[in-house]
Amino acid sequence: MFTASKVSRRKFDVVVVGAGGAGMSASLLLASAGLNVAVLSKVFPTRSHTVAAQGGIAASLSNMNEDNWSYHFYDTVKGSDWLGDQDSIEFMCREAPKVVYELEHYGMPFDRNPDGTIYQRPFGGHTSNRGEKPVQRACAAADRTGHAMLHTLYQQNVRSRTNFFVEWMALDFIRNAEGDVVGVTALEMETGDIHILHSKAVLMATGGAGRIYAASTNAYINTGDGLGMAARAGIPLQDMEFWQFHPTGVYGAGVLLTEGCRGEGAILRNCNGERFMERYAPGYKDLATRDFVSRCMDQEIKEGRGCGPNKAYINLDMTHLGEDTIRKRLPSVLEIGHNFANVDITREPIPVVPTNHYQMGGIPSSITGQVVVPGKDGTQEVVRGLYAVGECSCVSVHGANRLGCNSLLDLVVFGFAAAKHIIGEHHCEESHKPLPANAADNSLERLNKLESNKSGEYCQRVADDIRNTMQSHASVFRSQESMDEGVQKIAKIRDRVSALSLTDKSRVFNTERVEALEVQNMIEVAQATMVSAAARHECRGAHSVRDYDRPADDPQCPLGRDDANWLKHTLWHSATNSLGYKPVQMKPLTVESIAPQVRTF
Ligand code: FUM
Repeated sequence: MFTASKVSRRKFDVVVVGAGGAGMSASLLLASAGLNVAVLSKVFPTRSHTVAAQGGIAASLSNMNEDNWSYHFYDTVKGSDWLGDQDSIEFMCREAPKVVYELEHYGMPFDRNPDGTIYQRPFGGHTSNRGEKPVQRACAAADRTGHAMLHTLYQQNVRSRTNFFVEWMALDFIRNAEGDVVGVTALEMETGDIHILHSKAVLMATGGAGRIYAASTNAYINTGDGLGMAARAGIPLQDMEFWQFHPTGVYGAGVLLTEGCRGEGAILRNCNGERFMERYAPGYKDLATRDFVSRCMDQEIKEGRGCGPNKAYINLDMTHLGEDTIRKRLPSVLEIGHNFANVDITREPIPVVPTNHYQMGGIPSSITGQVVVPGKDGTQEVVRGLYAVGECSCVSVHGANRLGCNSLLDLVVFGFAAAKHIIGEHHCEESHKPLPANAADNSLERLNKLESNKSGEYCQRVADDIRNTMQSHASVFRSQESMDEGVQKIAKIRDRVSALSLTDKSRVFNTERVEALEVQNMIEVAQATMVSAAARHECRGAHSVRDYDRPADDPQCPLGRDDANWLKHTLWHSATNSLGYKPVQMKPLTVESIAPQVRTF
């Protein structure tokens, strides 16, 4: 059994959980400012899921055509189907050029134009002058932009003496009697030892939880650990009904083929060879927003115009781009084609289907990265000592649907913003708040329950049921009946999760224990998703429900979006399995609000 007397203690100024783009942007500024920073990661930092980001990072640099942060702001608000908070969106779009140049100065190897400026490609939903024409805004390092970013940030962190704890899994927050977060507990996978990391601030950057779905572009590590920690600590999860399906996951494998393919000119075709996006989105065509393109593809397949013997997929055609362009701009896509579809993309189209890719919701946070929860009198209160940035957070820049390339941007903008806030708050000068006597009790109880359960199920069997349930009941197209059924199924699976048992009780690199702890996090995310989805009686962004579908000229709910009743964020509370709501921030920081419009392409 795990006992409190064996739990070691270490002290840092700041503990960062997660070593992807968000975590390492924050840790870099914190460590450079002289703070003693610990970064915990389940994997070696450069294997964090940011490494898989391909297409680019959005910023209105105007290197290829005229652009402006306000166009980026408009596109992001429209992309979010008006659920994004306009103050956060303004902040992110204004900061974008600055953070891209900062990355450049850190040594990030962007592709170059002949004049030496950063190469930018078109991406879905990014336009100039409010939808007038596609704009080249995605700053790219071939189709390995996340890889280039992550290695740059890692090297700079090493230089700044950030302390990395590799193959450590954070377990739970430590909160004092006032509710302030004063550290985390963690499992060191190599030894099986449990540690307390005592700190002045904890910054969560654990990424998304795409692995709650059966088919996902996400790494296997993306099990929603930060969201699980938040849910168990009484912090609600915001807007969890909104999950993005990327239009071009390799059919049968789920591996991402960047939207940069379509940015470079690739075309989606049905079994008749038709470029069907011209019918659905005459203006934006293949570069409409992801939620919309995914639905059009699904529609083509459902109406019998899918490709292949079972008419089960869509063809992504790049044969007209030419081998030189493909080798220069899309080298990883070329390899992925060979390795995962046995296709030479220079000669033949590659089969793709919409695949789970990104979670728009998360731990509610502010522009400064501080975690905020409902307080008394409907106000939002800060959880002192706790920050969340990147995909695990919901600062609500993506609302109901994210634009491609706004994710890498979000990581760096809000990673830097949170670090600056922590530095500005003088966390390095304050002394540590004392640890409560029972600091590790919650984690020890969870671990010991797993140790002592004798008749529970094997965690991966339960995880499979979570993944299959989410895939069937909360996918690209949803129905009220299916979501209600999903809510019941996930509630039953939750009971099974609380009775998991281990077949292997060894300590050293016990992956079964790690996976069981991950499943405890996955169920929080899955239940938050199902309950929030079933409650939202409208269509908005990635939440498309057949029962609420309406024509574009419906005066009350054009295209099924019901602003009168549903222009609000959901907040799911784990302890009561119930929902609260909070208003969308329609007021930007300095410019005029963009009022809701019918969202067509
Ligand atoms: O398609 C892509 O390269 C993915 C980018 C993103 O999700 O932002």
